[in-house]
Amino acid sequence: MISATAKVMDCQNTRDIRVSTHRHFHLRIPRTYSTNCIHSTLHSFEMYTAYAVRISLVIVGIFSVSVVFIAFSRHLEDIKGVKRYLRYRKDDDIMQKSADDDVDQKLIFVGGMPRSGTTLMRKMLESHMDIRCGPETHVIPDMLRLESEWTGPTHLMSKLVEAGVAPRPLDRALAKFILSIIVHHAPEAKYYCNKDPYALGRIEYLHKLFPNIKIVLMIRDARAIAHSIVTRKVSIAGYNISDYRDVLFKWSEDIRPMYQGCLSVGSDVCLIVHYEQLVLRPVENTKRLFEFLEIPWTPEVLHHEKHVNETHLSSCEMSTDQVQRPLYLDALTKWCDEIPKDVLRDVPYLAPMMRLLGYDPTDNHPSYGEPDDFVLGKLKL
Ligand code: A3P
Repeated sequence: MISATAKVMDCQNTRDIRVSTHRHFHLRIPRTYSTNCIHSTLHSFEMYTAYAVRISLVIVGIFSVSVVFIAFSRHLEDIKGVKRYLRYRKDDDIMQKSADDDVDQKLIFVGGMPRSGTTLMRKMLESHMDIRCGPETHVIPDMLRLESEWTGPTHLMSKLVEAGVAPRPLDRALAKFILSIIVHHAPEAKYYCNKDPYALGRIEYLHKLFPNIKIVLMIRDARAIAHSIVTRKVSIAGYNISDYRDVLFKWSEDIRPMYQGCLSVGSDVCLIVHYEQLVLRPVENTKRLFEFLEIPWTPEVLHHEKHVNETHLSSCEMSTDQVQRPLYLDALTKWCDEIPKDVLRDVPYLAPMMRLLGYDPTDNHPSYGEPDDFVLGKLKL
C-alpha cells in the first residue's frame, strides 16, 4: 500500500487531500470535489512519483559513473603501462620466436683454443651496437661433442638411421637447441654471436646446421697459451695443466681440427685472426673482421673497455678482469723467459701445428710486428 499527500492544483478549493492506493485504488476526499478534479489529482500524483523515481535513478547513475571514473582514472596510467607491457611482450615474443627459429640468419661463432684472446674478441664484437654474444654457454660444445659420439663410427649410428632419428631430425633438433640457447641467453640483437672456444672443434658441422654462419677462429702462439694455462691454472678437461709439454702437445692436437675445419668451409665462412696482430694492429684487423662479417665497421670496436658493462661478463670466466682493460701488449711476450729451456727446445716436436699457423717454434724471442698508430697513441697515454 502506498499513501501520499498530493496538492490539488487545478481544483476549485485548493487544499490537501488524502490519497491512498491499494490493489483497488480508492480515495478519501470530500464530496464537494468534482470528478475532473479527482482525475487531475491522481494524474499529477503518478506523474510526480514517476519523475521522482527517474530523477533518483539518474542521480544514482551519475554518482556511480563518477565513482567508477575517478577510480579508473587513478589507475589509467597503470592500465596504459600494462597494455604497453603486454604489447611489448607480444612483439618481444614474436621477435625472439623468429630469431630462435631462423637457422638461416647470420650467426657469429668465436672460438679457438682457450687463452687465445677469445673473450677479447667477444668484447670487441659486442662494442658494436648490433652484435651481442653473452658469456660462454658450455652446453653448446657439450652438445656438439655428444652429437659426434652418437653419430660416430659405432653401431649406434646405424640404429639411429634405422629409427629415423639421424641425421636430419637430430640435426634439426640440435640446430634449434643451439639457436635457442644463443638467442635467449644474451640481450636482444640484430646479430647474435656465440663464444664457446671449443665449439669450433666442429666447424663443418656448425656450417651444416647454420648455412649463413660466420666463424672467427682465434689463433695465438702456443707458448703464450701454454704459459697462460700453466701459470693461471686454467683447468681444461684432459690436460695436465702443471706440465708444459702435455699442454703444448694437446694444444697442437686440438687446434688441428679447428684449423682444418676453417680451411674446409672456406674464407667467406671462417676467418683466422691472430691474437698478436689483433692487439698490435687493431684498426686494420677489426676492419678486416667486419668486412668478413659484412657488418659496417665502427670505431667503437677499438674501445671495448668503454662498452664492457653493456653486456654481462661471467664471474666464472678467467679473462673477465683482463677484458675490462683497454688493449694492452704485456701478454705478447711474457712467456719468453718463463718457460723452462728444455721445453722450449722441444716445442717444434711437441707442437708441430705452430709452423703451419705461421709461428717459428725455434725463435724464443719473437717479434710479432710493430704496433699501429692507434696502439702507439694508447701506449703514450
Ligand atoms: P694471458 O693469460 O696470457 O694474459 P681467452 O679469453 O681466450 O681465454 O684469452 C685470454 C688472453 O686474452 C689473456 O692472455 C689476456 O691477456 C688476453 N686479453 C684479455 N683482455 C685483453 C686486453 N684488453 N688486451 C690484450 N689482451 C687481452
